[in-house]
Amino acid sequence: MSVLVTGGAGYIGSHTCIEMQNAGYDVIVIDNLDNSSKESLKRVEAITGKAVKFYENDVRDKDALRKIFTENKIEAVIHFAGLKAVGESVREPMMYYNNNLISTIALIEVMTEFGVKKLVFSSSATVYGVATEMPLKEGMPTGAINPYGRTKLFIEEMLRDLYVADSEWSIALLRYFNPIGAHKSGTIGEDPKGIPNNLMPYISQVAVGKLEKLHVFGNDYKTVDGTGVRDYIHVVDLAIGHVKAIEWALGNKGCEAINLGTGNGTSVLQLRDAFVKASDVQVPYIIDPRRPGDPDEVYANADKAAQLLGWRATRGIEEMCEDSWRWQKNNPNGYEK
Ligand code: NAD
Ligand code: UFG
Repeated sequence: MSVLVTGGAGYIGSHTCIEMQNAGYDVIVIDNLDNSSKESLKRVEAITGKAVKFYENDVRDKDALRKIFTENKIEAVIHFAGLKAVGESVREPMMYYNNNLISTIALIEVMTEFGVKKLVFSSSATVYGVATEMPLKEGMPTGAINPYGRTKLFIEEMLRDLYVADSEWSIALLRYFNPIGAHKSGTIGEDPKGIPNNLMPYISQVAVGKLEKLHVFGNDYKTVDGTGVRDYIHVVDLAIGHVKAIEWALGNKGCEAINLGTGNGTSVLQLRDAFVKASDVQVPYIIDPRRPGDPDEVYANADKAAQLLGWRATRGIEEMCEDSWRWQKNNPNGYEK
């Protein structure tokens, strides 16, 4: 059975291609390589021993999508393609609305033309906005606080409307918490362009000597040690969550928001310490002022995924750090030779 994976050359997409192929699906990828390289898919093929059919196209290009749906018997789609940097979205909001919304609209229109009505969408815990209560449950109020988050929220709303209008659809809105880690082989992983915005790639680049020290954004939060707490989830657990979501979509109809997190919170300094232990490399740090917009704590209630998809994350922080480090150490410059 063939599944189209948009943005499949990216960080979460490439890991998901592996788990989909391991589960017996044929994987077809469309990616414009805006934030990735073809090398990741070559490595996916080396890991699984199976071919990934690749189309280098933009998801906003409906003719390209039509060609893919004509040439392949696609049963379902996993839609990762999108821009994801919060700060950039504040500076370039139209670029974010254009890419994230128009690609999703084009995809839905072409899926409808071809009668394919099973979709797994990459949403984010960011759609909960400034929450007053933890852990976050799917029924809690939403409200994004930046353009990136709003693209996710608008797409969720759009897909809910789609289901109301046509109950033949099966749509899983997967709200990811903080994906880190890498495949055990150490050959695929997160490869951010420029200086990383996110904590784990920053820590790994300090460890490998590309950056001097970690800047901890604030130590006066209401948390265990004053630094921000997040729900880090191993990217392989997340990828397996997509396989489960596809299985759900193939056998059910509906439109469901589902948290993909572990339910556990880890502070910045706890993650840094775990990384030092796993890598046996020093990660010097300084305390800097808070980063605007960062909440004290964010972590999931992960029960709905367990009930609906039969999925729970199983990999702990130690394994996430070991796997992030193996990837970084073996590929100090990411996919670049
Ligand atoms: P990524 O940048 O590594 O992957 C996204 C991929 O989509 C890239 O390969 C990029 O080239 C491609 N792409 C972007 N716009 C495209 C377009 N118009 N047409 C074709 N390809 C396009 O990011 P990721 O971390 O793998 O994230 C995947 C998805 O998950 C994104 O939608 C992101 O917003 C969402 N998400 C990520 C995180 C996270 O922390 N990584 C958290 C929550 C949600
Ligand atoms: N942090 C630092 N120093 C850094 C980077 C981050 O101290 O150099 C801190 C942050 O202040 C925060 C924690 O580390 O307390 C995690 O920050 P990240 O930037 O790694 O992750 P966020 O939780 O801020 O955001 C991420 C994605 C968003 C997504 C959100 C929820 O970047 O796109 O998770 O899924 F919306």
